[in-house]
Amino acid sequence: MTRAATFCLLILTGQAACVASESDRLGEQAAVQVERGENLYTQKCASCHDAEGGIGPRLTGKVLAGYRTIGTLFDYNRLAMPYGAPGSLSEEEYWDVLAYLLESRDLTTPTAPLNARSSELELRD
Ligand code: HEC
Repeated sequence: MTRAATFCLLILTGQAACVASESDRLGEQAAVQVERGENLYTQKCASCHDAEGGIGPRLTGKVLAGYRTIGTLFDYNRLAMPYGAPGSLSEEEYWDVLAYLLESRDLTTPTAPLNARSSELELRD
């Protein structure tokens, strides 16, 4: 991140380069969020949703897209999951897990980290 900022400052005349590095920076942050989300998912969700004999349903792209918007799915997760311990992750962690779920099910191509401003975005399988 620091390197991108430095690059931007050095090329004061190259405005296009600055815009490109800004989107690179957001893309990198999105990838890091997906990675954090994957770790959280493995620790907090997979035992029910991905394990043999787990009590949770498979979280397929079709199932997740049924929630229609990112905000609705976020609210469901925060209010109901993990089953038996709803709300036990921080708000940021719920966004991280969601970023991973959507990316791994091909429901989004993350160009920026998810947050409350992403709520209105529609999900399409
Ligand atoms: C202890 C087991 C358990 C854990 C841990 C768990 N879930 Fe679930 N999950 C369930 C069960 C059971 C259901 C079905 C609930 C129902 O139908 O009321 C469910 C349902 C869901 C659904 C809705 C699926 C649908 O068909 O609409 C989503 C989305 C979901 N879980 C996400 C998560 C996420 C994200 C995590 C981790 C933060 C998580 N779950 C952790 C058991 C679990």
